[in-house]
Amino acid sequence: MIPSYDFYLSEVLIEAEALQKRVAELGAQISADYDHNDALMLICILKGGVMFLTDLMRHIDVPHEIDFLSVSSYGRGARATTGSVRIDMDLREEVTGKHLLIIEDIIDSGTTLRFVMDVLNARHPASIRLCTLLDKPSRRVIPIPVDYTGFVIEDKFVYGYGLDLDEKYRNLPFIGVVDLEKLKANPLSQSGDEGM
Ligand code: IMP
Ligand code: MG
Repeated sequence: MIPSYDFYLSEVLIEAEALQKRVAELGAQISADYDHNDALMLICILKGGVMFLTDLMRHIDVPHEIDFLSVSSYGRGARATTGSVRIDMDLREEVTGKHLLIIEDIIDSGTTLRFVMDVLNARHPASIRLCTLLDKPSRRVIPIPVDYTGFVIEDKFVYGYGLDLDEKYRNLPFIGVVDLEKLKANPLSQSGDEGM
């Protein structure tokens, strides 16, 4: 039987109301920073960024497109990036000459974002900026310039609001901290590869 989300919850780190308030602020800031006539495209990194994207875009009042990029890294079983990232599902739209804003759930080592930014840069966009809901700067291995940050958090494994615990519980409207002892004693899966 799959436990309910609260079995693994050690604490609620960011309440739903605080998330919504911050997302609205980010949307206002992004709306102010881009011009109405910029060819703005939001690029959501699947799967974790999807709830953030759909809430954030409601607060962006300049015209924009959206598209989705799915990437995964190998061998993340120990919850640490090994450095090897691949594209699972590429964008559908052309990005050349457009202003790209990457929408990510969380930056940890920076490996994923470095890969994504290199891939997108090679396609000659007009600009690339990065918007992340969460940032764990203490975990950074590769420096990444972040333009918009929702919340800086400590080095804790979190889930909810798009972020998964072994693919479950992305639907939670808040960010919770995982009780790693309980997860170790009651694992949800044994998978080695991990999607985003
Ligand atoms: P990075 O490549 O090490 O920066 O890892 C970034 C990716 O790892 C994110 O897009 C998430 O999918 C995943 N990740 C990192 N930390 C967490 C966490 O605390 N909870 C859930 N997923 C995480
Ligand atoms: Mg993930």
